[in-house]
Amino acid sequence: MASKSLPQLSKAEAKAELEHLAKEISRHDEAYHAKDRPLISDAQYDELRQRNQAIEAKFPDLILDNSPSKKVGATIAKGFEKVRHRVPMLSLGNGFNDQDIADFVDRGYRFFGRDKGINLKFTVEPKIDGISASLRYENGVFAQGATRGDGTTGEDITANLKTIKEIPQKLRGNNWPQTLEVRGEIYMDHADFAELNRRAKEMGGQTYVNPRNTAAGSVRQLNSSITASRNLKFFAYAWGYVSEPFASTQMEAVAKLGEWGFKTNPLTIATGELEAMLEHYRYIEEQRSSLGYDIDGVVYKLDDLDLRERWGFVARAPRWAIAHKFSAEQATTILKKIDIQVGRTGALTPVARLQPVTVGGVVVSNATLHNGDEIAKKDIREGDSVIVQRAGDVIPQVVKVILQKRPSDSKPFVFPEKCLVCDAPVVRESNPKTGKNDIVRRCTGGLNCKEQAVQQLKHFVSRRALDIDGLGDKQIAAFFEEGKILRWVDIFTLKQRDQASNPRLAKKDGWGEQSANNLFEAIEARRQPDLDRLIFALGIRHVGENTAQLLARNFSSFTAFEDAVIAAGNSDIEAQENLLAIDGIGEIAVASLMAFFGDEENRNQVDQLLDQVQPKPYVFEVETDSEVAGKTVVFTGSLEKMTRSEAKVMAERVGAKVVGSVSKNTDILVAGPGAGSKLKKANELGLLVLDEDQWLELVKTV
Ligand code: IVH
Repeated sequence: MASKSLPQLSKAEAKAELEHLAKEISRHDEAYHAKDRPLISDAQYDELRQRNQAIEAKFPDLILDNSPSKKVGATIAKGFEKVRHRVPMLSLGNGFNDQDIADFVDRGYRFFGRDKGINLKFTVEPKIDGISASLRYENGVFAQGATRGDGTTGEDITANLKTIKEIPQKLRGNNWPQTLEVRGEIYMDHADFAELNRRAKEMGGQTYVNPRNTAAGSVRQLNSSITASRNLKFFAYAWGYVSEPFASTQMEAVAKLGEWGFKTNPLTIATGELEAMLEHYRYIEEQRSSLGYDIDGVVYKLDDLDLRERWGFVARAPRWAIAHKFSAEQATTILKKIDIQVGRTGALTPVARLQPVTVGGVVVSNATLHNGDEIAKKDIREGDSVIVQRAGDVIPQVVKVILQKRPSDSKPFVFPEKCLVCDAPVVRESNPKTGKNDIVRRCTGGLNCKEQAVQQLKHFVSRRALDIDGLGDKQIAAFFEEGKILRWVDIFTLKQRDQASNPRLAKKDGWGEQSANNLFEAIEARRQPDLDRLIFALGIRHVGENTAQLLARNFSSFTAFEDAVIAAGNSDIEAQENLLAIDGIGEIAVASLMAFFGDEENRNQVDQLLDQVQPKPYVFEVETDSEVAGKTVVFTGSLEKMTRSEAKVMAERVGAKVVGSVSKNTDILVAGPGAGSKLKKANELGLLVLDEDQWLELVKTV
């Protein structure tokens, strides 16, 4: 927006601009708070407010009755207090068909061991399509409510939740834990949603897109009376921190929540049979259209809470639960164009640009085409009429082409042989194991490819990596374009360079003093990143969050990690074996790490980055008073009381490290019947050798 500088602004112009700003700001407030769909960046929004304030300061007699500066709360527009969840709010793994669920149950039996006489029972319940919330009760009184946020930290929305009738202010009965965090889903039912839209239409306003987004927007209102007017509802289905355990199964826990005054879902059952689980899934799907609220699948949860504890978690989801999504909704539209997107590791993903079409209540204008083979197999061409589908939050897909509608002049799609961004050759790597060509085509430009470099940076600052507030995709792209952030290190020198630059960031379009300062503060706050996040942030191929955590847990510092990988890359066999010995890290990840640190430019960039940041060692939350904390353990032979996987999880819980082979770095060998060469080696090395019972005894004493 090209606005006149203040000294040049005439009174008439100021009046017109204030009127315009009041409308604009109110429109953006609505989009942000009521619809949860911001139309501009936070920085641009701040800029509008600052401009408004500056004009008002110069022409105080022009201040409007409905000026944004007069609205209470509006100045803390982004302002909810943060709440750190004592127990993280996890997400769920997804299954899309019966086989995925059979595999899930199978994983359970493999984990606990088929011969150990354990019968696994699962609960089956609808997956409510709303937003989750955590409600803390102290001595039976509602004390605080929070959104999920990123799972670790959410926002304090207590005042708004107090307006929801289905959330008890006081618990019924008296046998609840002193501190109890109840978790569940806030949603809006179909009747209330329709009524809200009817009223919005009547008032000539914009209508709301779907109940889920509206519920999300409604709990994030700064004005609680708006939340109160929305008649939100709540189903309780889980819990977080509790001062005393209150149940031994999911069914029992949910029954208690019901007794204490929460609404729980009546379609919940528990069964020990896969067939019965799937049958109930189909039953719930049949009921879907008549429930009166949105659900997008079912959730299966292991019923027994002790067994859950034993089965544990992967990065951010429990192993003991899974969502089974309903099949996708479909629609027909025209595929206008096929674009090729370049990912941070050079992977080229074709994307279909579609004539916008509504699929299951959401407007879809892009769909993934996965890869070149997929396009060839389905013979998808520009100009085709296609069937698209979307399921849940999954990226929409092109299912097939309607050949009868194909234009007569259409041509098959030819995948480019050179990167459209940097002109480097496009290759399909061959898999060293199978010798087959990889399905993914890649740009070979590396960081010389502008798009790969930008994507790397976007990944680096993203939520699961360094998580720098205010430095999103748009800002990274803009800073890159300007040459201000080209490499990781530039992020951390931005402030210092800005002080010497003209104009300063604060004076630029879309920025202001406040937003520039916020950005610099957010960057400062990440100078001591968690080691695992930093490793993940580097965007090394095959090193996802989980692998990064394993590496961070295994190495005490970034330097120790880097040295080990560089040594391995220099054919140091022991270093290679040590890396491969980390349970959960395979050859592909190790090869990729060695390739990454084998590249001088990468090492250079990492070194420069480390001049600016000091990663914090990974803190694995374990009972540190255990005798085995920090010890390296190897299991060999057969175990009778538990499976190998469970033994590993258990050892890690008390702070031990489990590796696959015996070396002088091993502390304890747990040997079951049938132990052979590892036992021999351990004896030679004089290691502590225990049988299964002795080991369990040792771990139990903590
Ligand atoms: S259990 C550790 N049960 O789905 C498991 N989640 O995709 C915690 N959701 O964030 C979740 N209905 O918002 C659970 N019956 C249900 C649910 C449910 C909806 C949501 C919840 C969660 C998301 C995960």
